[in-house]
Amino acid sequence: MSLWLAAGRIVSRDGVITDGAVRVEGDRIVEVGTRREVAPRPEDRVVSAPDGTLTAGLIDAHTHAAWAGSRHDEYAQRLVGADYEAIAAAGGGIVASMRAVREAPVEALVSALRARLSRMLRCGVTTVEVKSGYGLDEASERKQLEAIAEVARDPSLPSIVPTYLALHALPPERRGDRAGYVRDVATRWLPAIARAGLARYVDAYVDRAAFSVDEAREVLREARALGLGVRLHVGQFADVGGAELATELGAASADHLEHVSSPGADGLAQADVAAVMLPVASFTLGQAPPPIEVLRRAGVRLVVASDANPGTAPTESLPLALALAARSYGLSPRECLDGATIHAARALGLRDRGDITVGARADLVLWELPSEVALVQPWGAPPIHAVVHGGRVVADRG
Ligand code: NIG
Ligand code: FE
Repeated sequence: MSLWLAAGRIVSRDGVITDGAVRVEGDRIVEVGTRREVAPRPEDRVVSAPDGTLTAGLIDAHTHAAWAGSRHDEYAQRLVGADYEAIAAAGGGIVASMRAVREAPVEALVSALRARLSRMLRCGVTTVEVKSGYGLDEASERKQLEAIAEVARDPSLPSIVPTYLALHALPPERRGDRAGYVRDVATRWLPAIARAGLARYVDAYVDRAAFSVDEAREVLREARALGLGVRLHVGQFADVGGAELATELGAASADHLEHVSSPGADGLAQADVAAVMLPVASFTLGQAPPPIEVLRRAGVRLVVASDANPGTAPTESLPLALALAARSYGLSPRECLDGATIHAARALGLRDRGDITVGARADLVLWELPSEVALVQPWGAPPIHAVVHGGRVVADRG
């Protein structure tokens, strides 16, 4: 199977090619250049949008997309002044989603995730990181991860990077037994999940109303010893030292960072820990943006992700996150695109994608937009001409 794509603009790390073309053979990009340089061969399927823009497929590096249920009632309460942390302390929040996930059969989680991922694909997203974290006991976390593994086998959907979100909230049955819970996660559940090959990364939520640096260290050190990568939710509500822990552990990413100090940002840059910005979450929480200029000055790689989850980011649209990153966080259109392609790939340890270059995996989006700058307008679902995933056209404008 070979493919020839032509676009008014081809946007890669190297710059922009006007009136460009790309040839794909199998799942790889084999030629990139102007239309004159790269001619179609008779056997090629032709996909052409002379007024369109071709970018690498978008990569959503932080989602909780395997959820069940809905927390619209909590959102309605928050719209009239209720507080996210107070709702959680009263038994709602993450624990409300835990109840829905525990009740759901694995097939229901599979079909919810499948439907979300197919809508994400239509937003130009070809790789998605998906976390567990709403089971909060071994069987239910495994159920979520098994649902994720099942959906990951479908080549017509975005590729999945699975993450075991090991510390998210303390489940009600373990109240008063934090230390025992953290020990069970580190010494029993995590090794079993690693042995079963159900996760590539392990995540922990480090914050004032979540888990402490010491609790997260206990679990994430074990993750490292088992050969898994680590990523952290840090500084969403308060700076309790999460960025420093991410630096100490050589994490792949530190995510949220609404609250991070300047030395914290310097540490991330030195240890090459990506900062994952989640502007939909701070939008629904009515929060001020992270200190972008501090992160930029420190030289931290900025990633933008959707955070797709039922509580703080009920969305499936990475382009919406890019729009908010541009308008509310002040990221440039280029920073937004890089943050959802090249830097996102690197933050997920994926070397074969995130750019349009010979030899890269053919994950591409042909946008019906005259420029990549138009992508950061608040479309929600920007108009697409075609989405190519692993060399196959998996969505088109129809
Ligand atoms: O990334 N901060 C913790 N985790 C999620 C929210 C989870 C939820 O409210 O369900 C987040 O915002
Ligand atoms: Fe999150």
